[in-house]
Amino acid sequence: MSQKKTGGLAGVVAGRTAICTVGKEGAGLTYRGYDIDDLADNACFEEVAYLLHHGKLPNAGELTAYRDRLKSLRALPGELKRVLESVPADTHPMDVLRTGSSVLGNLEPETDFSGQRDAADRLLATFPSMLLYWHRFHADGKRIDTATDDDGVAGHFLHMLHDAPPGELHRRTLDTSLILYAEHEFNASTFTARVIAATLSDFHSAITGAIGALRGPLHGGANEAAMELIERFDSPRAAEQGIHEMLARRELIMGFGHRVYTRSDPRNAVNKRMSRRLAEEAGDERLYPVSAAIERVMWEEKKLFANADFYSASMYRFMGIPTSLFTPIFVCSRITGWSAHVFEQRADNKLIRPGAEYTGPGLRPWAPVDERD
Ligand code: COA
Repeated sequence: MSQKKTGGLAGVVAGRTAICTVGKEGAGLTYRGYDIDDLADNACFEEVAYLLHHGKLPNAGELTAYRDRLKSLRALPGELKRVLESVPADTHPMDVLRTGSSVLGNLEPETDFSGQRDAADRLLATFPSMLLYWHRFHADGKRIDTATDDDGVAGHFLHMLHDAPPGELHRRTLDTSLILYAEHEFNASTFTARVIAATLSDFHSAITGAIGALRGPLHGGANEAAMELIERFDSPRAAEQGIHEMLARRELIMGFGHRVYTRSDPRNAVNKRMSRRLAEEAGDERLYPVSAAIERVMWEEKKLFANADFYSASMYRFMGIPTSLFTPIFVCSRITGWSAHVFEQRADNKLIRPGAEYTGPGLRPWAPVDERD
């Protein structure tokens, strides 16, 4: 098949998976056969992490044991703290996590694949710790204790950020957001992780590479870019005019469109509901109405729908989360999906090495250096 027809590998089936369906006829978005709406409404994030890793929902005892285990893994090694302190304050937090993942791979290397679940749990437990340790050290000059005893990742994250355990609405909102971001089949970062895993490289290399892929604004970075866009406008009217102008200049509107979904992103309805609820709580009269206006214009003008990143932006803002920490939250969640894919890749491995359609020059005669133009 020519590259023209498969630009960006769109529509190409690049492997098999039993983890997730995205936009599949009659299924929609599912994790291990469970509909995303059921999981968002009923599960906690750790239940979903367990489901992705083990292929089944945990029973009550398994869930308690898993949450306790993750809780016990939150403390950071002293060497890693020292590295985080030396990473400059103006570094993008995605680069901090990329470094943190790699350093942990030096300090606690995965010596053989039988330790892969331990490596996955450790990264799941420590990504919020790394991020908030670095953030609080540079923002407030504080060396925070990352071993809080909040039950879940969402509470742990917000507690470290705000120095106090969160209220139930904020905890549950972030918990649900982590569920929505946990897994999405062969997206760019997951595929990156699988390509690295397929060379039989180590777990931390696969995750470090995935973070690099997620960082870009066409992938995870879109939630930060969406916030910057929304904040440019003071009112829905200004937003409508601004978006019309941007579309006329053929600019990309971040947080809209999707490679696989064609009519809507099933995660958006949940995010929109949660953003509206937090807007009401905060008495917001700007960010939510501006977001809704942008969504309206994008649909009217381009038939483009908001993806998972669009309402995440205002939602996170209402919880007092700085914009630069938005994409890192995606990492704190997607580590679960990446890990599941590394396990799956390794269980039936084949080196991933596609071919390319050559477009360069034909065979040419060699010319010595002093005879060249
Ligand atoms: N804003 C404005 N126009 C957009 C758009 C957006 N967010 N997303 C797609 N389009 C337009 C493209 O310009 C293109 O128009 P054209 O045919 O006139 O050239 C058309 O829609 C098809 O888009 P294309 O870029 O070919 O789709 P894709 O499958 O390669 O890209 C995305 C998918 C997600 C990369 C793309 O929609 C995008 O860049 N969105 C913004 C970033 C984002 O939110 N990323 C997070 C994804 S979850």
